[in-house]
Amino acid sequence: MKRTLSVPGIAYGGDYNPEQWPEEVWAEDVALMREAGVNMVSVGIFSWALLEPAEGLFDFSRMDKILGLLHENGIAADLATPTAAPPAWFFRAHPEALPVDRDGRTLSYGSRQTFCPSSPAYRRAALRITDQLAQRYADHPAVAMWHVHNEYGCHNAACYCDTSAEAFRGWLRARYGNLDALNDAWGTTFWSQWYYHWDEILPPRATGAVPNPTHQLDWRRFCSDELLSLYRAERDVLSVAAPDTPATTNFMVNFSFEALDYWRWAPELDVVSNDHYLQSTDPESHIDIALCGDLMRSLAGGPWFLMEHSTGAVNWQPVNRAKGPGELRRNALAHVAHGADGIAYFQWRAAKAGAEQWHSAMLPHAGTDSQIWRDVVRLGADLKALAEVRGSTGTAEVAIVWDWDARWALELPSQPSGELRYLDLVRTWYEPLWRAGVAVDFVRPDGDLSAYRLVLAPGLYLVDDAGAANLTSYAERGGTLAVGFHSGMVDEKCHVRLGGYPGAFREALGVRSDEPFPLLPGEKVGLSGEVPQEATGTLWSERLRLAGAEAVASYTDGPLAGVPAVTRHAHGAGTAWYVATLLDPDTLAGLLGRMRAEAEVEPVRSVPAGVEVVRRRGTDADYVFLIDHAGQGAEIPVPAGATELLTGKETTGSVTLAPGEIAVVREPRGDVSAQRSDDRKDTP
Ligand code: GLA
Repeated sequence: MKRTLSVPGIAYGGDYNPEQWPEEVWAEDVALMREAGVNMVSVGIFSWALLEPAEGLFDFSRMDKILGLLHENGIAADLATPTAAPPAWFFRAHPEALPVDRDGRTLSYGSRQTFCPSSPAYRRAALRITDQLAQRYADHPAVAMWHVHNEYGCHNAACYCDTSAEAFRGWLRARYGNLDALNDAWGTTFWSQWYYHWDEILPPRATGAVPNPTHQLDWRRFCSDELLSLYRAERDVLSVAAPDTPATTNFMVNFSFEALDYWRWAPELDVVSNDHYLQSTDPESHIDIALCGDLMRSLAGGPWFLMEHSTGAVNWQPVNRAKGPGELRRNALAHVAHGADGIAYFQWRAAKAGAEQWHSAMLPHAGTDSQIWRDVVRLGADLKALAEVRGSTGTAEVAIVWDWDARWALELPSQPSGELRYLDLVRTWYEPLWRAGVAVDFVRPDGDLSAYRLVLAPGLYLVDDAGAANLTSYAERGGTLAVGFHSGMVDEKCHVRLGGYPGAFREALGVRSDEPFPLLPGEKVGLSGEVPQEATGTLWSERLRLAGAEAVASYTDGPLAGVPAVTRHAHGAGTAWYVATLLDPDTLAGLLGRMRAEAEVEPVRSVPAGVEVVRRRGTDADYVFLIDHAGQGAEIPVPAGATELLTGKETTGSVTLAPGEIAVVREPRGDVSAQRSDDRKDTP
């Protein structure tokens, strides 16, 4: 049973690092937090060196004062275990706990998260400081949640040292039982890689040619599990001392991090939380917010907590873009729209020293006479006005299949094309749905699909038999399934599914392909059929032939002129589509529109281009978020007599969005939703 966070309404705050400032500053901090409506901050995340100045010697005097001050001011604490930043004394005593990279270099301390996840010395030290914190603060009235570690795997997702090698072998023994099974799974008859003794197996260290794919895939699985075991160990220590206090750790579901299989992590957290930063080079990073928010909501199975994002620029990209007018507010409320019940930043007060001195914060270097501060105060008021939204969740009829195994396997070296990026493929399919105002969930390949009218599987290169059967039987029972190219190609051992492509889905899709023809960067092929005249494909093509399906579009030129590129197959009571090339955005949008029409999937609301519409469903009302990312302003019909929560005003049949503005409309649940749920009775 998951423990819930007791902070009322939408939690609001950020990482608070008062230890970086003299005590005189703290009073100003809490006064300003109150002014901004901050009701929860994360403390102690990187405090290990101060909390334990020498091995086994603890000093909690500063933390006592900080927690006391927060409590006196009605601000809850999300108290962190400081284990992401072991102190220098630890590494001097345990140099063997330093991580080793793929090339065999031992990294030095002097930063953060430079420890080997498999190091017994690290685990002992981490659990000791965790236990001390748990014993001291389990009953502290300020402590509302445990923030376990920080961004597991951000800097040390893999360590290639001998200790890690030993742990990897232990993990492999548990997975395979014996070496014959491992040799079979890894296909080690290839290139004389057969293992006769467990001790021969190493992490996939730098080597002369391409390492074995299954070896690399199992290594990624192991690395994710190894860090998860550290999380579990800390959480268990905290749970013994404080059985009712929820625990979280901040995920990194964003554009750049791929190291952890969060489907395996999420059930272990009471509150599923995320850190999300914008990519300066992404002109539509609000779509990344939406995609990641939907993935978070799906991982959490409901509302989640945004543990970190930024008020302005970060400091770790080549050029760190500040946010434009109103963007801070649009970003934060878009996270709420996609299910966040807590909005927090890195960090409260901008640092004047240290590696992040040029990272934005809620209280900038310039102080309160700044745009960011004014925006932060306004956001605090907005979140207060949205308190009742807490606990409401999404209402999607479309699901996109998401799988970390597939992501890792697709991006292994020596693929037919090195240009395939899992997240890019998913985003390509997500974007037209976002633009059309269609709600999306993410599901595991073997997840429950019964709530969905349309299921999309882009880039699902690896799928096990259970996942494949789940997806194909979904179509067979009446669902609409669309599969993207290079999907279903290998099983969980990363072995090719024989007999023609796309292996696992061939029969359901009613097609058979015998050779991939990936396209070169910049190469385009024309398409004709039930697609616009100017339709093109890039990135991928394959020699496909129909085996029961009909061709919806075929190539007009290139090496495969005349060959089907998009197909549709009546499979059982449903329909299975195959999209064998990367369609240009308009053609893909049109195709997804057709699939939606056939599957009777409605947008949340029809909105002008650039306006995002998202619905959260509560017990008695729906909350419709309207966010103008295009900066054009809009007039959007909404039921009369509803309430726009940010202004508190009653609606008269529409809301007017000024350019760049946001509205959140509480709509009483009416006939439309009742009708939709009746319709669902015959959904597979
Ligand atoms: C991560 C970390 C924070 C901080 C921010 C900066 O998310 O968790 O401690 O370093 O990045 O963007």
